[in-house]
Amino acid sequence: MIRFCGIDLGHPIVNGSGTFDAIAARRAFGEVLLDEFPFAAFVSKTVTLAPRPGNPPPRLWELGAGMINSIGLPNKGLSGYLAEDLPELAQLPVPLIVNVMGSTPEEVATLVGAFAARAEVSALELNVSCPNVKTGLLMGADPGETAALLDAVRTLTAKPLIVKLTPNCASPAAVAAAAEQHGADAVSLVNTLRGMAMHPRRQREPWLGGGTGGVSGPAVRAIALAQVREVRERVRVPIVGMGGVQSGRHARDLLDAGADLVGVGTESFRDPLAGARIAAELRQIDGNSGIIDVPDEHACPRIARRGRKSPAK
Ligand SMILES: Cc1cc2nc3c(=O)[nH]c(=O)nc-3n(C[C@H](O)[C@H](O)[C@H](O)COP(=O)(O)O)c2cc1C
Repeated sequence: MIRFCGIDLGHPIVNGSGTFDAIAARRAFGEVLLDEFPFAAFVSKTVTLAPRPGNPPPRLWELGAGMINSIGLPNKGLSGYLAEDLPELAQLPVPLIVNVMGSTPEEVATLVGAFAARAEVSALELNVSCPNVKTGLLMGADPGETAALLDAVRTLTAKPLIVKLTPNCASPAAVAAAAEQHGADAVSLVNTLRGMAMHPRRQREPWLGGGTGGVSGPAVRAIALAQVREVRERVRVPIVGMGGVQSGRHARDLLDAGADLVGVGTESFRDPLAGARIAAELRQIDGNSGIIDVPDEHACPRIARRGRKSPAK
């Protein structure tokens, strides 16, 4: 058992926001998902105040080592989430962390205020990879913007606030320090790195409907390690480290670089049971056996017997 921001967790592996749809997974695997939930806490995909349709297709491009997504944060908006998703996510056997994003500090304040009143929610993650429509600056790319955001929301809730840093800025560590000074309880990183793919058949046209997208998966692992280390040198608050984690060894590396928890994102698309497998591999490494041999049946025996169905995003 480990403690993160006052929340008890069974192990240090959580999901990266937007990469595991627990509602779809429950439909695919059935009630056994609740008995053998792969993550120690569930981080919801980003919720915005108004519903968002997301970006036009195509939304994905597969890389040799990961992918670029241009999903565009489609979601039902706050009221749809509260009415339809929250009651289902509240049934999960692990603490729920809700990830929110707004285009002004006031919008984020409305979201934080709404979730502050909900006992089902253990913590909030602030996705700051969004431009402030008033200043034009990316909220998470500028320490002053991040500080102003925290000032607008900190007093609205006693729940832990985790700031999800963007790697697409000059100094994530400086942003992390500003977040900590202005009341953040933890930081998480990395979010996806901006990337692009050209259309394979049409000259000078990007492939993704959104033009550019976010790179994730093994391609970003070395960057995540370096940024987690740099942030750890600047802040004392807990860190949720993520980026390209596919194994217990990768999780251990992020923990050794200074993370307290590890997020698994893209790997769950390849293997929906990755969270449990990686937690089991990490236990083996920490038990010093040195041998990593964890079949699915060991991590999630009943789900594994039902076969691997990939939950929809
Ligand atoms: C398809 C997809 C959707 C994502 N959606 C969100 C999201 O809604 N909110 C968010 O903060 N991060 C989102 N992310 C970023 C991940 O949570 C994570 O920070 C990033 O992918 C790095 O981890 P990974 O390399 O293990 O995937 C998304 C990533 C992917 C690949």
